[in-house]
Amino acid sequence: MEERMKKRVFSAIQPSGMLTLGNYLGALKNWKNMTEDFECIYAVADLHTITVRQDPAAFRKQIYNTCAILLAIGIDPENVTLFKQSSVAGHSQLSWLLSCYTQFGELSRMTQFKDKSLKHADNVNLGLFAYPTLMAADILLYNADLVPVGADQKQHLEITRDIATRFNHIYGDVFTIPEPYIPKTGARVMSLQDPTSKMSKSDENVNAWVAILDKPEDIMRKFKRAVTDSDNKICVAEGKDGINNLIGIYSAITGKTTEQVVNEFEGKGYGDFKTAVGEAVVEELRPIREKFDLYISDKKQLEDIYFKGAEKADYIARRTVSKVMKKIGFVR
Ligand code: TRP
Repeated sequence: MEERMKKRVFSAIQPSGMLTLGNYLGALKNWKNMTEDFECIYAVADLHTITVRQDPAAFRKQIYNTCAILLAIGIDPENVTLFKQSSVAGHSQLSWLLSCYTQFGELSRMTQFKDKSLKHADNVNLGLFAYPTLMAADILLYNADLVPVGADQKQHLEITRDIATRFNHIYGDVFTIPEPYIPKTGARVMSLQDPTSKMSKSDENVNAWVAILDKPEDIMRKFKRAVTDSDNKICVAEGKDGINNLIGIYSAITGKTTEQVVNEFEGKGYGDFKTAVGEAVVEELRPIREKFDLYISDKKQLEDIYFKGAEKADYIARRTVSKVMKKIGFVR
């Protein structure tokens, strides 16, 4: 396998709705940081999104929004391969090929499939079932060394490794076996209204989550109303989920350790703390929203940037698909 100067990272995000502060602090901020140390390939995973039925107009808008947000957070398309999954045919091609090396039984054990098929009981389609094979194709197409994944995608990375190992076992050293990458910083952002559950854009209570594109006054309102506890002491402790969450958010934004945050607010009340966290979030997201507005107002430029990224990705993807087909026994 080819030697690389830097390790290669692959990750992707679905354009499935409003991106939240949780997506930003849990993943996207690290996407940007990783570009300093690694060769990064990032995709907007639009093919994955149609495993759940989408309204065409809303879907289109979400794709543009997601594309613009990735640029707005500062991912530099000159330095990173940034593209839409559907623009590179190799994803669909390799997905089919790999599906013939993926067992029905192992896909049936995927917890996300079980959860989603309960949630969308009227549309338990083949794509939803085969979702992990497409994800394996995403990663293996580029022979990624590292894949940053949250807890909810860990099982999918495991199956990717299993599929790659199985394929290599039959045909020799074809795929790099990807490792999970756990970033040094980053927060698992919890709901502001029920801090025992993850912040989610599907939460009906809009005060429970902050969108990356929320206006400052909305962000402040949501933080001021954040659910905490009654002992009015800012520290990390069992049962203080609300405060723990706010400390985590503040620390992920400022880069301060938990201890430093606790010291900074010693003797202060929850009101002051919530305001400080809200303001930190407002200031962090302000430039992102401003840049987003610029990118989204020029669709042509946005398309051009992503098209260029797709050309770079396609160059690598084609070679992998050819190699895999040749190994299997296809002829030219
Ligand atoms: N399934 C991932 C999610 O919903 C997105 C994704 C698609 C992905 N392909 C990937 C993540 C490859 C990492 C690597 O979050």
